[in-house]
Order: sequence, then structure tokens, then C-alpha cells
Amino acid sequence: MVSHRDQIVLSADGVQLVLDLSSGAPVVRHWGSPLGDVEGHALRRMTTPPIPHSAVDVPQEPGVMRERGRAFHGRPALSGNRNRLDWAPLFQIVEHHASETETSIRLHDAEASLTIDLGYRIEPSGVVLVDLAATNDGSEPYRLEELTTWMPLPDRAAESLDFTGRWLKERQPQRRPIAVGSWVLESREGRTGHGASVVQCAMTSGAGFADGEVWALGLLWSGEHRHLIERGTDGRTAMGAGELLQSGEMVLEPGERYQAPTVAAAYSDEGLDGLSSRYHEWLRARPEHPTRVRPRPVTLNVWEAVYFDHDLERLSALVDVAAEVGVERFVLDDGWFGARRDDRAGLGDWVVSDEVWPQGLGPLIDRVTAAGMEFGLWFEGEMVNPDSDLYRAHPEWILHVPGRVPPTGRNQQVLDLTHDGAYEHVLGQVDALLSKHPISYIKWDHNRPLVDPAHHGRPAVNAQTLAIYRLFDELKSRHPGLEIESCASGGGRVDLGMAMHADRFWTSDSNDALERQEIQRYSMMAIPPEMLGTHIGPSTSHSSSRSHSLSFRAATALFGHAGIEWDITETTNAERSHLAEWAAYYKANRELLHSGRVVRVDHSDTAALVHGVVAHDRSAAIFCYAQVAAPGAVLPSPALIPGLDPDARYRVRRIEPAGRAPAMQHADPTWVDGVITTGAALATIGLRPPILHPEQAILIEIVLA
Ligand code: DGJ
Repeated sequence: MVSHRDQIVLSADGVQLVLDLSSGAPVVRHWGSPLGDVEGHALRRMTTPPIPHSAVDVPQEPGVMRERGRAFHGRPALSGNRNRLDWAPLFQIVEHHASETETSIRLHDAEASLTIDLGYRIEPSGVVLVDLAATNDGSEPYRLEELTTWMPLPDRAAESLDFTGRWLKERQPQRRPIAVGSWVLESREGRTGHGASVVQCAMTSGAGFADGEVWALGLLWSGEHRHLIERGTDGRTAMGAGELLQSGEMVLEPGERYQAPTVAAAYSDEGLDGLSSRYHEWLRARPEHPTRVRPRPVTLNVWEAVYFDHDLERLSALVDVAAEVGVERFVLDDGWFGARRDDRAGLGDWVVSDEVWPQGLGPLIDRVTAAGMEFGLWFEGEMVNPDSDLYRAHPEWILHVPGRVPPTGRNQQVLDLTHDGAYEHVLGQVDALLSKHPISYIKWDHNRPLVDPAHHGRPAVNAQTLAIYRLFDELKSRHPGLEIESCASGGGRVDLGMAMHADRFWTSDSNDALERQEIQRYSMMAIPPEMLGTHIGPSTSHSSSRSHSLSFRAATALFGHAGIEWDITETTNAERSHLAEWAAYYKANRELLHSGRVVRVDHSDTAALVHGVVAHDRSAAIFCYAQVAAPGAVLPSPALIPGLDPDARYRVRRIEPAGRAPAMQHADPTWVDGVITTGAALATIGLRPPILHPEQAILIEIVLA
């Protein structure tokens, strides 16, 4: 940090943020690569704009609050009013503090009786965490409608990239030119949403995985939210992110403060992989990051194996095969509690069902632990079926607008966790089970969007979101070591906010390896692979009816927190030994898979996806070449393998932990049995793949020779 009286510079790992305080309002002069030794007044002179005709007579500098009173004509950072007054505040800096890595700035408008607290902290990874809060200093309530964190973009930011999707097809990329106007992504379903972007990116024209500059904002929030990129008619561009507040949701009483969700801002001059690397490094540096606690266990989830058909004998057989193939954690999914024999009843009654578990869960858990595995259990604590003891006793404990009952979704209503009774009920029942049994892991689902999310008629998504964070934190503090998986019909609650409270995301309900190749590729944009559940599903996918070889499914599931979700009691001996070999390979290599740099190749042929993980010291890598469609030419194009040390010599070979991928050729390319080559040759010439059948993949192992 360099702090002259009026300039603050935060730098880390090739990223620099320069804040200019000289005008009395904070202006971000620069967010990008380091500028060298430029003095504040020089930077000011270089960036202060000319004064155009038909404009106000001062240079127009919106500052981070983008107030109208500064003659800024775009979207302000704060919107709100106090009895129709104080809607156009103009903030002045009243104090600021700075250390090497962070700064806090307090702004005030005495007329509007509002205080803003701004914080910028640069992490060793170069990610800048931005905090923003508004306090009502007046004697009347202030009705806050929006408080968005904005960062300026240089004019060369020409394209946006964000992610949308649906159930079974999360995180689909969409790319478009940035033009005058606003490109707004909103999530209004009370949870993050399958179509939520996680991060929004702005890029230089043509930026790819390895090249170009990228700026991105990600919101640490699991409720309703908004991402925007705005370009004014003056050609200047900025990106913003914030919570989406419903009308009347945030009325600040005198003295009350609203803390906006933290925004994680990342810049890369090494394309999208460089961006992902920053986000991953930031998350991995947290002491509580799951891989800092212990390696990620091979997980078997029983959902696609048995669905609601819970039976001790059947599940015990699954336990035995799971142990045989090397599974380390066995997770009992939906169906173990209350009247939950299908998805029409039981949510809310977190008590083991006597009907299906007459001796309780003890015998199953004993069998799991005796086989050397951990036990995990499914909950969906924010939900209640109308057909449940809880709802019969407390129909008023659902989020609703008085006088009407929201339509059910998957036959369920949303429990109002902002209601003390409801919160204590869920906490108490879950806690009782975790106290009674050795349960080290819970999968926490959220299977419907919110309709009428109101508490006593008032909008309550903000409070409901904070309540689930509080509940997770409380469970973790009562049960040290507990891991939580965030699931919402697959990837409906994947976000950087939940990443602070949960340890794993269920990436998608699609276990179809073809879909997963794409879904995982983009889910890793900000979330590191070790936090993304990736399972080998059944031979024929339950969600698409596509059939895939075990080798394709296994190669795809290797790149994440790997597991199995398949009735493996029905597998052949050959499949079991492949599964065992795959699980052993994952265990031997998870350290690399979960700490290295994620590399996605801008491959020349859209019929294939190439991606991998490269160790930080570039001593090893594992890549996947996935033939997602039939190649157009006789010979598939070489897979370039970037990211290794150009001068180092590597031993390269195909590995087949789960069997050979079927191919249509007389002979394999000769490198598959092993070749010694350089990092430079791998990056520039690459490896000509075998002529695989479509929807097949090979794994390539690279180690220092
Ligand atoms: C949706 C989840 O995404 C599935 O994995 C499974 O847990 C079901 N819910 C259970 O109802």
C-alpha cells in the first residue's frame, strides 16, 4: 500500500487498485495490472476527462457512489428516500484509514443524514474484497432500495461473459458485446438460482481462457441479487453487483445500518484461467477451506441408486460394494425421516422413520463406519410438506403473504427461518441427530424457488438468507469438523456467499458426463474444483437417457470432489475393478487435482473439450481430452497442453484408470504409451488424440521426466 494524503494504492500478485480521495469523494482511478511509480497528481491529470458541450462545467467524475449530485447520469450506487426526501445524497469523505492491504473510508451526507462505510481489501491472490454499508443517521426511517458496489472498467472492456442455466444445465456461458446501456442479470427466486452467474465478467475483445484481460465481480450472497455492466453515452463503462432488495425490504430505522454483501473483484491479464486461478487461490487460502482441513473423500451418494426405497438390507449391500471399490464417505439421501416415502410428505419432520428404519439409523451407520467409511445424511431444513406433523402444528411457519398460501413447489412450502420457533425447530432436530450419531457430513437441499417470501407480510429474503448462514454456522460450531454440502436441485445455490458457510456444492442433478463436461468447465470459473461434487452416475443417465462408457463418466468425475451415484451392487466384476482403480487414482492424485491451476484450452475443434489441472510448481499435470461430438475431419486436431514449464522435460502418457475409451482406428497414436517431451512442445504442437467414438474421453498424465 502507498498512501499519500489523497491516494491509496493496494497491490498484490500483479493487481493494483488505485483510489483517489483528492476530490472529497473516492474515485477508483485504476483497477488492473500495476502502473509502476506514478504519482497521484499525474494519474489524476491523465484520467480527468475533458468537459464536453451541453454538459456541466466541471469534469464529470462519478466516484464510487455515482451520485446524481456529481452530475452523473448513470445508475447511482444508492437509491432510497426518507419520506420522499434525501433521495439524492451527495457524500463527502469524513475519514479514512489504510494499511498495507486494506483501506476503510467513511463518507457522510449531513443533509441526507446518511453514512457510507466502504472497505477495500486486497488478498494475496489479487482478489479485492469490497464492503459497502449504509447507516441511517436521521431521526426518521430511511427506505433503502438499492446499494450496489461498482467498479470502473477501462473503455477497452468490449465483451461481457456471464453464465445462465436451468435445472440439469447450470452455468451455461453467454457472451455479448458491451454497448451503451445496461446489461443486467437479476435473480429473483429467493435463492441463488440455477441461472445465477456466480461471477459476471467483462473482457477485452476476443479474450479466451489463456489470453486477454478480464475483470469480474462475484457476490458473496445466496439470496436475490443483481449484476450489471453499464456503459454511458460518454463511453465510460462500469460493472456493479449487489443484493436485489424488494420494495420495503430494507427500511433502516434511526441508527440502523445495512451491510451489503461483500463483492469479490478479480482482474486477470491471463484470460479466464487467470481469473479462475485468482478466485481459487483466494478461497484456498482460507484456513477453513476444506482441503486445508483434510483431503476430499471419495463419496457415494445413494440417491440415484435407491431413491426413496430405503431398506437396511439393500443399503447394507451398497455399503459393502462401496467399501470394496474404495469409497470413503457414504451419504444417505432423501427418504429416511418422517412420512417421507416419496416427495409428497414428511419435510419438516427430521426424525428417523420407524417404518423404514425400525431400528433407527444405528445399524446402517455402524455398518458404514465398520467398513472404514464416514456417514453423511441429507436434509432440506428450509422446507416443509403440508403433509407433515410440523405443518399440521404450525401452518403459520411458512413464508407467505397474509391471506394467501403460496403455490407448492415439489409439493412443499418454504419454512420461515426468520421465525424463531421455526429456526429452533430445525436447529434442534438436526442437532439431535448429529449429536446422537457419528455424522460428519450433511447434504442440505433447497428444492424450490420462493414465492411470496414474506414474514408477517414483509419481504424476507434478506433475513431468510442470513438465517440459513447462521444455522449452518451454528451447526458447525456445535459439531466441529462437520462438513456441509449446499444443494438446490443440483446447482441452484452455488455462489461465493455460500462458499463461506458450506464445504461442497452439488454441481448439478445431471450426472450425464456429456452435460457435466460443460457444466463443470464453467462452474469452476470462480469455485475451485474441490468444492464441486462430481459423481460417476449410472451407465444410462437418469436425467437424459444417454448411455456413456464408464471410462467417460470416470474421466469426467475425476475433476472435482469425486464420487459415485449409482447402484453399484449391480455392477460387473470388471466395472468394480475399474471403479476401484479410478478411486485409487483419485486418492493418489487429489492433492494435485485440488490445489493446481485449472487450465481450459481454447481448442480449435468444437467437437472436443480439453481441460486439466497443472501443479503450481509445474512439476505435474493431469489433462482430459473429451471428444464431445464426432470430429469433422478424419484426424482429430491435436490437443495443445499449455501451462507447463516450457523448458522442462516431461514424461507424458495416456492413463486409463476406468478402462479404455472406445476408438475407431487401426492403431493408437504412438505417444499414448509414453513420450518424453518439453512443456514448450506440449503447448505448441500438442498431442494428436486417438480417433475416439463421440462422447468418450481420455486422461493424459504428465510428470517431470
Ligand atoms: C434434489 C437433489 O439435487 C438430489 O441430489 C437429491 O438429493 C434430491 N433432491 C432428493 O430429494
